[in-house]
Amino acid sequence: AKSSVTSSLMDKGNYKHFMAKEIHEQPEVLGHTLSRYFDYTTNTANVAGAEKLNFNKLSRLLISACGTAYLAGLVSKYWFEKYARLPVEIDIASEFRYRETPVSGNDAALFISQSGETADTLASLRYCKENGAAIGAVVNVPESTIAREADMVYPTIAGPEIGVASTKAFTCQLAVLAALALQAGRERGVLSAEREQELVSELTEIPSLALKALAAESEIEKLSQPLSKADNALYLGRSTNYPLALEGALKLKELSYIHAEGYAAGELKHGPIALIDENMPVFVIAPYDSIYEKTVSNMQEVAARGGRIVLITDRKGAEESGGAAENTVIMPDMSDIVAPIIYALPVQLIAYHTAVFMGTDVDQPRNLAKSVTVE
Ligand code: G6P
Repeated sequence: AKSSVTSSLMDKGNYKHFMAKEIHEQPEVLGHTLSRYFDYTTNTANVAGAEKLNFNKLSRLLISACGTAYLAGLVSKYWFEKYARLPVEIDIASEFRYRETPVSGNDAALFISQSGETADTLASLRYCKENGAAIGAVVNVPESTIAREADMVYPTIAGPEIGVASTKAFTCQLAVLAALALQAGRERGVLSAEREQELVSELTEIPSLALKALAAESEIEKLSQPLSKADNALYLGRSTNYPLALEGALKLKELSYIHAEGYAAGELKHGPIALIDENMPVFVIAPYDSIYEKTVSNMQEVAARGGRIVLITDRKGAEESGGAAENTVIMPDMSDIVAPIIYALPVQLIAYHTAVFMGTDVDQPRNLAKSVTVE
C-alpha cells in the first residue's frame, strides 16, 4: 500500500493547513529517514557515502546553513562533539560566505537545506569547494542545486514540504545528522560497538515517541489561546534544547508575528531576565536530564519575577520542577539523543496553534518565502 505521504503529495488531506499535515506526518517520515541511515539488524549507523567526509582524518567539521536548517546543524554540533569528539564550526551561511575563513583540502563541510536552493548556503558550499574541502549535503530535494554540487548527498526522506515554516524537514535533518554523528564516532574509534548499538536502539523508538508527543496537541492548543494575546515571549533551553529554544522563538515570530527570543537558559541572568514581568510567557524546554536542576533554578528566577512559565518536560521533570510552572506539557520518557527530535514537535505545535488563534496565514506567513534564492 502507498504511504499517506506519497499518495497525497499536494493536498492537505483532512488538515486545515499544510503545516498541520506536515507536523503530523513526522512519525512516518522520520521512520523512513531513520531506516535509510540505520541498520536495524545490527543496530549500527549505516550512512552510504560517509567515507567521502573522511571522518577519521578530520580535525574539525564545518557546517553552514540558514534558518531552521541552521538550527538542525546547531543540535548536531552537540552530537558530533559528544559522540565523535569531532569539533564542529557552525555558521549562518550568510556570515560564513563573506568571512574569508581558512578552509583547505583537510576539511570537510556539511550544508543543510530543505530546498537545496538557498542562495547563501549554496555560496558557502562553493567557497568550501573552491578551497578543496570535501562537501556533504543534507537536503530534502534530491535534484536541487546544492545536491548536484555536493560530493555526497545525504537526503532527508521527508517528502515535499509545502508550509513555508519548516517542520518535518527539520526533524528529518536531525535524524540524518544523528546517523552521521554516530557513524563518525565509530570511524574515529570514539564510540564502542556496544554504545553505538544502545544509541541506535534508542533512536528506533522515534516514530512511536513522535506519535505519543503529538498526543499532547489538545493540551497545547488550550495553552496557546492566552499566548496569542502576548506581545513577547521567551524560550529557554540548555544543551541540545538551546537550539530548540531558538527554533521555538523563530517559529512563533514567523507564524504569529509575536516577538519572541530564544536563549540558552544559562544566559538568562545576562540580559533577558530584565524583560520578565507578569505579561511575559516563558517556554522552558527541559527534559529531565543531567542538567535539569540547573534549568529549575532558572525557572525559579523567572517565577519569582512573575513570569508565566510553560514547561515542556517529562513525568519526572514535572515532579521535580518545584511548582514554578503555570502550565506543563508532558512528553513521554526518552533518552538524551532522541529528545531534541521529539521535543521539536510540541515546539512546532505551540507556534502553529498560536498562529491559528491569531488568524494569520499559517502556510504563507507575510514577507516570508519557502525558498530564499536571492541574497
Ligand atoms: C526560509 C524558510 C525556512 C527555512 C530557510 C532555509 O527562511 O522559510 O523555513 O528554514 O529558508 O531554507 P532551506 O531550504 O535552505 O532549508
